Amino acid sequence: MVEQREEWGSRAGFLLAAIGSAVGLGNIWRFPYVAYDNGGGAFLLPYLIALLTAGIPLLVLEYSIGHRFRGSAPLAMRRLHRRAEVLGWWQVGVCFVISSYYAVVIAWAVAYTGFSFDLSWGDDPETFLFDSYWAASEPWQLGGFRLGVLLPLVAIWLITLGVLAGGVRRGVERANRILIPLLLVTFGVLVVRAVTLPGATAGLDALFSPDWSALTDSSIWVSAYGQIFFSLSVGFAIMITYASYLPRRGADLTTNAFIAGFANSSFELLAGIGVFAAIGFLAGAQAVAVDEVAAGGVGLAFVVFPAIVSELPAFNRLFGVLFFASLVAAGLSSLISITEASTSAVMDKFGWSRRRAVAVFGGATALTSLVFSTGLGPTLLDVVDNFVNSFGVAVVGLVEVIALAWVLRRLGELRRHADQVSDLPLGRWWTVALVAVTPLLLGAVTLGNLRRELTEPYEGLPTSFLAVFGWGAALLALAIGVAFTARPWHDPSRLEFTPEEIA
Ligand code: ALA
Repeated sequence: MVEQREEWGSRAGFLLAAIGSAVGLGNIWRFPYVAYDNGGGAFLLPYLIALLTAGIPLLVLEYSIGHRFRGSAPLAMRRLHRRAEVLGWWQVGVCFVISSYYAVVIAWAVAYTGFSFDLSWGDDPETFLFDSYWAASEPWQLGGFRLGVLLPLVAIWLITLGVLAGGVRRGVERANRILIPLLLVTFGVLVVRAVTLPGATAGLDALFSPDWSALTDSSIWVSAYGQIFFSLSVGFAIMITYASYLPRRGADLTTNAFIAGFANSSFELLAGIGVFAAIGFLAGAQAVAVDEVAAGGVGLAFVVFPAIVSELPAFNRLFGVLFFASLVAAGLSSLISITEASTSAVMDKFGWSRRRAVAVFGGATALTSLVFSTGLGPTLLDVVDNFVNSFGVAVVGLVEVIALAWVLRRLGELRRHADQVSDLPLGRWWTVALVAVTPLLLGAVTLGNLRRELTEPYEGLPTSFLAVFGWGAALLALAIGVAFTARPWHDPSRLEFTPEEIA
């Protein structure tokens, strides 16, 4: 007897969870430096094009798959076509890899929330981060666990798995009802403070002054598509899973996709404004140019921000706590969604109870993530993040679109489905975006990534290290996909729709 699928308590519950999934570390930690590194204001053009040609169309596509076929990514894909199941599991594999390091960045943010109370980083946040907090080791040297990372990491996993064990309505929905308003308040206060600091306009100028010549550089387009995918959580199995918990009627998929997509990008812009206003202040206080203080990568959140906090004229500690607590809140709601996508998949395929799926699959992810709390962790994290995004998320997205649009030709059916349950009809643009624009651009992006990776070793790291951990991580996601697809379904009748599912 197949149990009835869990459902969201309300439309607002779904939207909060979908926005909570999208708004994450990608918005606060990634977007500002990606935009800055890629032409500043000029980056907004490829970013918007990526949002409209790939982000939102894919969001509608994934919502429609989850809602029409009422399952986690593997079940929904399998119901769509016998051969498509592997696409669902591949996405689950991507979730497994991403959640294992994503949790670690949240753990750093937890630690830094604590460090903000006594400005533990002192006068030199960079040395503090690399030598004291991470005590980072060289490639190939594990370097032992770092307790300051390990302990908050364990706490993050206990919270995440606890929320998931509570179920869709009592766990995920309730957690988002707390986390999202909390995030809006903490981040709102922070941005208002940042833009009223002396020197803020210099930072905003640096972020928004367009360098139009950058648009001819293909790597800008690669970055824009990569950012949109990561940020909207498409190609992650999540949106299929979340949409499968929507009621049959009144799901309004298309409108919800636009709301979630624009809410995410608005938050992203707000984060860019807040972060660069604060950077402008720091540059003014230190009497240097903005580009001398704006760092890329993790440095922006964990080196530049502590320096800003130390430099503030008043309420420094509060500002630090607000910033890092925002990172924690945004990250947690996304981590919950990434782990839920795998939990739901395991429950569907193996007929496991939610608690068992959370304990076994979630537990395995948590254990894997411990490797990132060693001295090698930060380097490993940077490499895995780069490869799994370029050759996991983006490639799975590309294969998904080609399979559905060109091979299986199911876009018409999915478009009719979306139109049937939505107030906003999808125009021809949606089909054109998915049949032509997304595959062409994503294909070019993937080729660009491949060329870059093959011609210059990422961050100058040893190629053997990149082969094992970079390519290895991307391949692991695919291997998980293939291995789980090969396992038999616990209850093959699960593949048929129940009468309630069709009703
Ligand atoms: N969408 C999530 C983020 O932006 C994964 O961090």
